[in-house]
Amino acid sequence: MGSGIAQVAATAGNQVILYDKFPNALKFSKEHLQKIMLRLQEKGRLTLNEARAIQNRIHYTDQLKEVAPVEMVIEAIVEDIEIKKSLFQELESLVSDTCILASNTSSLSITSIAAACKKHPGRVIGIHFFNPAPLMKLVEIIPAIQTASTTRFKAEKTLKSWGKTTVLAKDTPAFIVNRVARPFYSEALRIYEEGIADFATIDWAMTEIGGFRMGPFSLMDYIGNDVNYKVTETVFEAYYYDPRYKPSFTQKRLVEAGFLGRKTGKGFYNYTDRSTNPAPKKRDALGRQILIRILVMLINEAADTVFWQVATPEDIELAMTTGVNYPTGLLNWADELGIGFCVRSLDALYDEYKEDRYRCSPLLRRMAKADERFF
Ligand SMILES: NC(=O)c1ccc[n+]([C@@H]2O[C@H](COP(=O)([O-])OP(=O)(O)OC[C@H]3O[C@@H](n4cnc5c(N)ncnc54)[C@H](O)[C@@H]3O)[C@@H](O)[C@H]2O)c1
Repeated sequence: MGSGIAQVAATAGNQVILYDKFPNALKFSKEHLQKIMLRLQEKGRLTLNEARAIQNRIHYTDQLKEVAPVEMVIEAIVEDIEIKKSLFQELESLVSDTCILASNTSSLSITSIAAACKKHPGRVIGIHFFNPAPLMKLVEIIPAIQTASTTRFKAEKTLKSWGKTTVLAKDTPAFIVNRVARPFYSEALRIYEEGIADFATIDWAMTEIGGFRMGPFSLMDYIGNDVNYKVTETVFEAYYYDPRYKPSFTQKRLVEAGFLGRKTGKGFYNYTDRSTNPAPKKRDALGRQILIRILVMLINEAADTVFWQVATPEDIELAMTTGVNYPTGLLNWADELGIGFCVRSLDALYDEYKEDRYRCSPLLRRMAKADERFF
């Protein structure tokens, strides 16, 4: 992620210092950027001079003290709160008082990272990019409770000048996208585990009927089952074991078996011998049942994200359509289906299973009663 973010900043004309503790990581990063620059030239997106200028703007170092003159630090090191806190403490004494200290963490508390900075916690903020950073337009901005409004404005202004679309999220676990998207995977896994449909059929329903670019199982294989499982597990723990985010044994077993997805040649699907993969059972009624079940769970999560004031409906729509390329914003989709329909579908699931996982968001229930829409 660090290399990608450096590429974004350098492409926007900034001088960048790319620091990593490990020289091998710097070597890898430099070589990787060289390859990308070549590819962009071949595609006619950059001239040789532009590519050289971008590369020349990045200075690689394994000495932290060299970051002292920068105006903004974007940290993207290992996802470990203690290691991040100690780096922020060190940074605080190195950089100027006006320098912004940002973290690209996907799951850790920005407030907790800011608390490690004793001098100026108000300059600490979350700036969460999506992978690959140069291609994904969305960036979530997460102020900690200590963050000064000037820090937020500066961060937003900078990111916009880099061509990014920013959304604002409260400092809560998984922010917007990684939280709202959980049911896309978990409800699909649940449908599969219950034997309602196989994964090829679920993927078919979500892509062909739902219009999603990738089905949940192809996407989990693409992300890597290890990475996807870890995010779910982290979110589950962070929300005090709310059953809505419960991880799946099916995915855990795949991780244990080393069936991580595309990167290992096998996950839910077999990528070395595709003839062994099941063919979807293209039955419309079943496909629609699958789509609606996953969709109302996604809508419920998006509605709860509004209910708990994590983000505005507009930002949630923007986040899900640009961060994970959903075909339509979930709240718009809820308006189209009818809020009453979403509530009835969730209540039907709750009545059947009697599990807290299927509890309907109070916001949806209130809106249905008042016959309201999100937009
Ligand atoms: N990979 C993603 O899709 C993604 C997306 C959004 C956010 N993030 C977040 O970005 C951060 C980095 O993730 P990644 O996937 O790029 O990880 P990564 O392991 O690929 O890269 C981390 C880099 O940090 C370096 N590093 C580790 N400890 C260090 C230290 N103490 N000081 C300096 N450098 C150190 C490592 O050498 C490595 O090059 C994490 O906080 C992660 O949650 C990742």
